[in-house]
Amino acid sequence: MSMNRQRVVLITGANGEVGHGLIKTLRQQPDCPGILVLDLRNLDAEMMPYVDGSIAGDILNEELLDNLSSEYEITAIYHLAALLSTHSEFRPEVAHRVNVRGTINLLKVAIEQAQFQGAPVKFIFPSSVAVFGMPNLSVKASVPPVREDEHLNPITMYGANKLYCEHLGRYYTHHYRQLAANVAPSGVDFRGVRFPGLISATTMPSGGTSDYAPEMIHAAAQGKPYECFVRPDTTMPFMAMPDGIRALIELADAPREALTRTVYNLTAFSLSAAQVAERVQRAFPASDIRYVPSAGRQNIVDSWPADMDDSAARADWGWQPVYDADKAFDDYLVPTIRAKYRRREA
Ligand code: SER
Repeated sequence: MSMNRQRVVLITGANGEVGHGLIKTLRQQPDCPGILVLDLRNLDAEMMPYVDGSIAGDILNEELLDNLSSEYEITAIYHLAALLSTHSEFRPEVAHRVNVRGTINLLKVAIEQAQFQGAPVKFIFPSSVAVFGMPNLSVKASVPPVREDEHLNPITMYGANKLYCEHLGRYYTHHYRQLAANVAPSGVDFRGVRFPGLISATTMPSGGTSDYAPEMIHAAAQGKPYECFVRPDTTMPFMAMPDGIRALIELADAPREALTRTVYNLTAFSLSAAQVAERVQRAFPASDIRYVPSAGRQNIVDSWPADMDDSAARADWGWQPVYDADKAFDDYLVPTIRAKYRRREA
């Protein structure tokens, strides 16, 4: 092993919404490590000043990952690359390859790195509310916020992939090669969060099913009409993007011994589509929002719980969202989105 390999954290899917926010937030930290990013596309030009290395490539390309693993000392992996829930339904087998095989490939990088370094390598994994599957709307409406181990019957390929990858994380962290004699633990320190729908003021999601909320807000700010693809009563949990980014970093920083689970529910506020629209209308009175439910996407959100119980994250590593619904709209989404499109018009 070369003695002067650059020490970095690796971020996959770096060009996505979470990736952009994570890179900028990590970079502001006083003890910021080197940041190496990997994405299918070259990292967006405006993000380049924030990173120490950028690779355009596929997480399914094992040779590329082998080379990367021999060139860098990777101390933590934020594995963000995935096909989201709506995209995954169009090409379920491709989604399975990217979401599951891609995750195993990165777990293998983590094992190899941990063995080189003789130290655990943290593997931070965004899972999703999509791992849950409510059997019908009356159960969805009547259950209390779901806990981590309840209603795990996802109806999407994406949800099934994320749930399985959570199990892989637990396996690689605690049970890897358990029958082989004298084999040390893998060294993978997997930590997952189940995000609700994330709403960013600066970027747009692509291929998710919670996208109606951010799409509604961004359309209104640009004076464009919006056809919402779910019914007004459709309710699910959401979170402002800065809280989501902070959650990943705080979970990565939490002492291992404080963690009682490999994956934690997280949420900030639950709203119906009509409640999102009301807030949008208040901020942008000219907004023109109509409801044109699409059966397939409606069915997916109907299968997701209206709320998640995140008390385990609160108890174990002090999770606490900064942005409730009022703060998310009044202090973050509305002013930032307004400024974003005003700047464009200027
Ligand atoms: N926002 C994601 C999606 O809609 C859920 O994790 O697919």
